[in-house]
Amino acid sequence: MSKRTVLTGITTTGTPHLGNYVGAMKPCIDASHDADVQSYYFLADYHALVKNRDPEQMRQSTLEIAATWLALGLDTDTAVFYRQSDVPEIPELTWILTCSTAKGLMNRAHAYKAVVQGNVEAGEDPDFAVNMGLFCYPVLMAADILMFNSTHVPVGNDQVQHLEMARDIAQRFNHHYGEHFVLPEAVIDENVATLPGQDGRKMSKSYKNTIPLWLPEKRLRKAIMKIVTNSLEPGESKDPDDSALFKFYAAFADQTQREEMRQAYRDGIAWGEAKQQTFELINGELSEGRERYEALISEPGRIEEILIEGAKKARDYATPFLTRIKDAIGIRKLG
Ligand code: TRP
Repeated sequence: MSKRTVLTGITTTGTPHLGNYVGAMKPCIDASHDADVQSYYFLADYHALVKNRDPEQMRQSTLEIAATWLALGLDTDTAVFYRQSDVPEIPELTWILTCSTAKGLMNRAHAYKAVVQGNVEAGEDPDFAVNMGLFCYPVLMAADILMFNSTHVPVGNDQVQHLEMARDIAQRFNHHYGEHFVLPEAVIDENVATLPGQDGRKMSKSYKNTIPLWLPEKRLRKAIMKIVTNSLEPGESKDPDDSALFKFYAAFADQTQREEMRQAYRDGIAWGEAKQQTFELINGELSEGRERYEALISEPGRIEEILIEGAKKARDYATPFLTRIKDAIGIRKLG
């Protein structure tokens, strides 16, 4: 069996939260231990630029997300771990792909359409606050993916359309210039939990309901105590499948713990007690990583070195591949 190439990026906006950990980082780190997988994980800072105009926040978020991958034990000898902006071949490929991308395809992108629709509903000009980065976002993402001939891209449901677009763009290029790009597949792991936020909706920066991953113990406990529950009293039977709190517990528990907690809900565990146990479970899993994180974040120079090393490895692949692509489109030596 040939090696699979698994690639995913995290946009460097904001502080990493429990949802990033459960839904992306932890499964990706597990996958990187598979000998049949070559993994590429990167910090999508040029994607962050679409929304983030604050230079200090750009840097801080990149630092925090990089430190998080490392604190969680990503092995950078086997996985290629880099910052998107350190690989100039990616924006170069973006332009080449932009010229193989139908504008009509981009018009259909959900993220862009949502902003336009919001403007229309608010009585604004449809293009209000829309920059070309937002419009072309899927092309940059296609370049991220196609640059390394990724076969599998683990993403959340909200990114599936972007993967379809990457395939579309690759096909269009291949059709005209020959088979250069591998068509990537989205991987949506049904076993990977989507964590709700404190209010019970999906945990997301846009809903402002996230719980930061590296909160100090006391504040983590407080944050978990705030997760919404219903008004059932201690002793009254509770439905684990209708509980945001249970989803938190389940995301960190093993099979046995999960079954026992299910039973405890049915037997009427008090919400306060269920929250305490959820806190202890999550805190137990994160406490070592938290110490490593604190140590790493205080040494940004070391993280920088690791990222530069990673970019070198990424470019070992990207530089010759881009030369082939440029050759294919006729940008080649004249002599
Ligand atoms: N758009 C993705 C997100 O917001 C992040 C991302 C950028 C990405 N480039 C990627 C994910 C390439 C997978 C592959 O979640």
